[in-house]
Amino acid sequence: MEKTKVAIIGLGTVGSGVARLLLDFGDRTARHAGRTLWLEKVVVRDLKRARDCDLPEGVLTDQLADVIDDPEIKVVAQLIGGLEPARTIMLQLLESGKDVVTANKALVAVHGPEIFDRARELGRSVAFEASVAGGIPIIANIGQCLSANQIQTLHGILNGTSNFILSKMHEDGAAYDEVVAEAQRLGYAEADPAMDVDGTDAAQKLAILAHLGFGARVDWDDIPRTGIDTLDLADVRYAQKMGYRIKLLAVAQLVDEGIELHVSPTLVKAGRPLAEVGGPFNAIRVEADAVGQLLFYGPGAGQMPTASAVVADMIDTAVGRTAITFRTLELWSNRQARVGPADYAHARGRFYLRATVDDSPGVLAQITKALGEQEISIASVLQHEPESEGQPVQLVIMTHETTAGAMM
Ligand code: HSE
Repeated sequence: MEKTKVAIIGLGTVGSGVARLLLDFGDRTARHAGRTLWLEKVVVRDLKRARDCDLPEGVLTDQLADVIDDPEIKVVAQLIGGLEPARTIMLQLLESGKDVVTANKALVAVHGPEIFDRARELGRSVAFEASVAGGIPIIANIGQCLSANQIQTLHGILNGTSNFILSKMHEDGAAYDEVVAEAQRLGYAEADPAMDVDGTDAAQKLAILAHLGFGARVDWDDIPRTGIDTLDLADVRYAQKMGYRIKLLAVAQLVDEGIELHVSPTLVKAGRPLAEVGGPFNAIRVEADAVGQLLFYGPGAGQMPTASAVVADMIDTAVGRTAITFRTLELWSNRQARVGPADYAHARGRFYLRATVDDSPGVLAQITKALGEQEISIASVLQHEPESEGQPVQLVIMTHETTAGAMM
């Protein structure tokens, strides 16, 4: 059987999973690729570090040159996180004639234009299915399977760590700080866990999906975002009382002005599919004109789900499928973006407000007056009696539909 030599850069959680799939299930990959994907080299920084997988003799190296200088290695899974040296290595691999597969969403979101342009100039390809929503094949679905559609909206739970934390707060009444530590222990979190809970990770994934689905070229850092680090257990309890669940939603919506994008903790009616996505799982609801509504659900993080997406990309690259879609999709090319970002201030929705206020005459009147001046109509107000005389009280207000601008 024909053999395509492949390599992995980085043997962390995902890299070890990819090595395991290639080595232990080589017959499976060969069946799908019509050739053996032969793991020739795995490059690591520190040869002495204990590893989670057994590699054949001579495969592990700390020399990137062992890959770059070997013209027989055709496909490389570049699985190191962060921006540098990931970006430099990516470019070096492309320059040396390799087709590259990556799971690094920050790299694609930040340096996508540079990397994709260079790959095109060199006649190479880049595949990045694992960069968004781990094991869910959302890149292939949006980039290829829905190509007869105009996508209208995307609503995604794209950060598994945040979803795990919110689920624990809802189900166990656990406090935010306790659950953050647990998510880190379980290995869902990014190396810098702040990126999970402040909305950065979800915004980077949303920027990639917005580019694929709408042809929008947006800087992820321009996407308005609020993370779950602004929430308190009290918010979760009030949401539950009102029949909602709080989810960190990444939203892209086509409007007359362009594409509206934001990431924010959102109250989703209990019982709706996105409200029921628990633990570290991800889900994306897509609305498109021809197909209607679709829901993608599955593990958005973790070793084997992410490795599953990486190896599928390696197979597609080895057989030449990636090169075709890479050429036809022209991602992050210098072509004019099909659609520009819309002003978030014009985004319409209902809003949840919680204020800790003095329990004294006229306080509620002042708040309702301030909202009224912005033409914000109140749908419901919730206030419990103070625990003791003179203590402040929590006031929870749900608005009718208004604009984000009015709420700012
Ligand atoms: N830290 C990410 C998450 C995993 O929690 O979803 C990979 O993107």
